[in-house]
Amino acid sequence: MAIQLKSKDELRLMRESGLVAAGILDEMCLAAKPGVSTWDLDQIARTGIARAARKVDADIAEVAHQVSKLVHELADHKVEVEKLTQVFTGLRTIKKGTSSSEVERIVSLEGDRHRVISAFLGYAQPPYPAVVCTSINEVIVHGIPRKNEIIKDGDIIGIDFGIFMHGFCADTARTIMVGNVSPENRQLVETASESLENAIALCKIGNRIGDLGHAVQRHSEARGYSVVRQFVGHGTGRQMHEDPQVPNFTDKGPDTGKRLKAGLVIAVEPMVNAGTPDIEVLKDEWTAVTKDRKMSAHFEHTIAITEEGPWVLTRANSTPGNPGSP
Ligand code: MF3
Ligand code: CO
Ligand code: CO
Repeated sequence: MAIQLKSKDELRLMRESGLVAAGILDEMCLAAKPGVSTWDLDQIARTGIARAARKVDADIAEVAHQVSKLVHELADHKVEVEKLTQVFTGLRTIKKGTSSSEVERIVSLEGDRHRVISAFLGYAQPPYPAVVCTSINEVIVHGIPRKNEIIKDGDIIGIDFGIFMHGFCADTARTIMVGNVSPENRQLVETASESLENAIALCKIGNRIGDLGHAVQRHSEARGYSVVRQFVGHGTGRQMHEDPQVPNFTDKGPDTGKRLKAGLVIAVEPMVNAGTPDIEVLKDEWTAVTKDRKMSAHFEHTIAITEEGPWVLTRANSTPGNPGSP
């Protein structure tokens, strides 16, 4: 599909989606302690999704209630109604004389358009079976949470989480260090994080997709690491994976690939390996591990390109043009 640039109104909705995803990822990161299972992390995410979904439903019901009251009055409240329904535009079909059962139907339809749902559960073939990916140590990405997988002191764990809210995807991941992590592993994780920050700083109108991959690759390889080639970042929006692809490397050098434009939203997600870039997918058809079983780290943010500069939608302390800090 062609690249889908987003309007300013759409970016505002994507920002809400990003903040909710970031908040739930924060909860998982705080909970990831020795003795906790990766399944427990998945449960935290499911609870967070349910909570956020209820909040959206309550907001819709509240706006519907206000609109219903207004349209029953004699005065024409068109402007007021439009303002009230800026996000939940579907509620504009509530008119004077709309029956309460019809209002209920409109509210429920609007819920389907805006409610928070997992972007991962049931994704692809075989259907992904969880709402989060938990990738420990030599697992690069797409580790499946399990009840019998217990977090240990010294582990590095990639936690990748994605939702749809208002119909828009937010996709974000972090590798956390549990307790006493070896200096080598710490350096790997820090390098992967820095390489994402370097790429984010380049998310400006006029730069190119190749500049991002080049930045990630240069920083990682300078420390003796390698970047994974089989998985890449991606555009994101009404679908989790949209065009363009955003590789973490470039064979053609910087200043190649598509130019970044205002309204482009991309998930940049370096996967950095301590050893070779080669991967292997386990028998569950999801878990991607390093072929040499050396460590791997993964970071991801959903980033909007704006006139002001990068806006890291999945980071609370970012504003348009200000990437914020990890
Ligand atoms: N969120 C991953 C990515 O960063 C994709 C996860 S695949 C899923 O692109 F099946 F787990 F959803
Ligand atoms: Co992701
Ligand atoms: Co992604």
